[in-house]
Amino acid sequence: MQIELNDISFSYSKARRRKPAAPPFVLTDIGVTINKGEMLALAGRSGSGKSTFLQLVKGFIAPSLGSVELDGRNPHLTKSAELFDKVGFIFQYPEHQLFANTVYEDIAFGLRAAKLASGEVEAKVRRAMEAVRLDYDEFKDRSPFELSGGEKRRAAIAGVVVLEPGVLILDEPTAGLDLQSRRSLFDLLHKMNREQGITVLWVSFFPFS
Ligand SMILES: Nc1ncnc2c1ncn2[C@@H]1O[C@H](COP(=O)(O)OP(=O)(O)OP(=O)(O)O)[C@@H](O)[C@H]1O
Ligand SMILES: [Mg+2]
Repeated sequence: MQIELNDISFSYSKARRRKPAAPPFVLTDIGVTINKGEMLALAGRSGSGKSTFLQLVKGFIAPSLGSVELDGRNPHLTKSAELFDKVGFIFQYPEHQLFANTVYEDIAFGLRAAKLASGEVEAKVRRAMEAVRLDYDEFKDRSPFELSGGEKRRAAIAGVVVLEPGVLILDEPTAGLDLQSRRSLFDLLHKMNREQGITVLWVSFFPFS
């Protein structure tokens, strides 16, 4: 999926719906094209607008000025909000998104909501677990709450990857992980990017300012 941000400015101000949009702008005149299959990292100081940027791409918020286009279409204008469903969004502490009794049920949740046949659900959950390197037989019946930090994160990512998004957005995915888990998470993201062609957009805080 190709993502285009055209001259975007964004303000959280309530008056932003008026024309012209009201300052203060968190983001001003952002223009960027992210091509299918790219892996892009975004770094910036705390409060610089990284999470706001990601939320614009996911469609949680709409730009005050400018437009977002996914595969050449503006979902806010063309009533094609389903385009945003193709954007997988992983929050800073994705383990907070875990809720089911077993890892399997957690990952299967989105597929069940889409009313897939159970054989198909199983095949897809298995593939998603393999993609995040959680052994299917070892982990499928375990409680997601009894996993290590890195395993929880991988289980949460599997729950998004299983829906086969064209884009994977991660907001500071390595926060709170040790060096080894960070490395393994990055290996994983690179692999999914390379082998499945998923566009990956992730945010890191910038430690040098
Ligand atoms: N819902 C909101 N309402 C009003 N202002 C907000 C809201 N969310 C964020 N802001 C403000 O917008 C600015 C950018 O916030 P944002 O969360 O995008 O920064 P960030 O770069 O992700 O920071 P961090 O590295 O700390 O996560 C900050 O000044 C923040 O206070
Ligand atoms: Mg943030």
